[in-house]
Amino acid sequence: MILMGSPKYIEYIERLARGEMLTHNEFAELIENRDDGLMEYAARKAVEIRIREYGRDIYVRGLIEFTNHCRNDCYYCGIRRSNSSASRYRLTPDEIIECCRAGHELGFRTFVLQGGEDMSYSDDTICSIISSIKTLFPDCAVTLSIGEHSYESYKAYFDAGADRYLLRHETANAEHYSKLHPAELSLENRKECLWNLKKIGYQVGAGFMVGSPYQTSRDLAEDMLFLYELKPQMVGIGPFIPQHDTPFADHKAGTWQETCFLLSLIRIMLPRVLLPSTTALGTIHPTGREKGILAGANVVMPNLSPVNVRDKYLLYDNKICTGDEAAECRNCLQARMNSIGYDIVISRGDSRQEGYIKK
Ligand code: 5AD
Ligand code: FES
Repeated sequence: MILMGSPKYIEYIERLARGEMLTHNEFAELIENRDDGLMEYAARKAVEIRIREYGRDIYVRGLIEFTNHCRNDCYYCGIRRSNSSASRYRLTPDEIIECCRAGHELGFRTFVLQGGEDMSYSDDTICSIISSIKTLFPDCAVTLSIGEHSYESYKAYFDAGADRYLLRHETANAEHYSKLHPAELSLENRKECLWNLKKIGYQVGAGFMVGSPYQTSRDLAEDMLFLYELKPQMVGIGPFIPQHDTPFADHKAGTWQETCFLLSLIRIMLPRVLLPSTTALGTIHPTGREKGILAGANVVMPNLSPVNVRDKYLLYDNKICTGDEAAECRNCLQARMNSIGYDIVISRGDSRQEGYIKK
């Protein structure tokens, strides 16, 4: 059966695909009026563009969740500092390097060091971890995902060899931002961090949760405008999923449908963006990650963290893969990608978009 969305909104998608930007109102209307026909249309366009830019290659990133200590208290997040039920852990630099070694053998050429804002790792420690990885595995890219830091710290990590930085903006609307975070965190500061990272020369990733509490279509439209302005090399989005020990325990999760529609719109608006199909999407639907790829994503991020800490990095409930070895996830994803006609490739998978310093 061929589904058709309303011609008015099909035309919006066509305009976006021609490189014309939509207004805030138009994006909000398009997102608000999503139906199966529009989803299918946007996904078809997005896949066409993704195949033109990156073919059927899927890049993998080995995710190393190296600490779940965090100084922040974001209302949505399971490792927020007020969550006294979280069982906390830290990996030593040697343990992190061991994860990379195992990952390198499995074909990973990007390592993502992700953690809470844990000030017990000094800048010097972070820099020495980065330079060890770059020395031992010179064919690999290092991505950091460790939150908000000063320009000087970001610059030091970059000079130590870090290639990329992920820092989701979470929502581009200041009022909405203040409903998701305590007063000491601000959208203004978050944006400044992202601009600093760009200025330094990182490949930068922004992003947001879909269906987070109090989010409206107008907020999502603002996210699209902000992404267009920032032009990040990577965009990470996934559904919000409640975590039982947080203030948002009783809010409902975002949907895979809305997440996939936004993945498609992002691919169409930023054709060369590196776009992961996230673990959160795989958590709310058994084939969520496949659906994300079929909506225009081109990256998957299996977990490389040691199995004994896997079930402690719980930003949200029911997270998948917490009991699986790195090799199992790698093979599982390979099979999943093959099942939909795609291939995981052994490559750093750098952005084809301009605006960063190639190392
Ligand atoms: N549901 C989904 N995603 C979450 N994140 C944090 N908490 C949740 C949750 N409850 C996302 C945030 C953060 C990224 C590392 O994980 O967007 O930037
Ligand atoms: Fe981890 Fe499937 S990706 S088990």
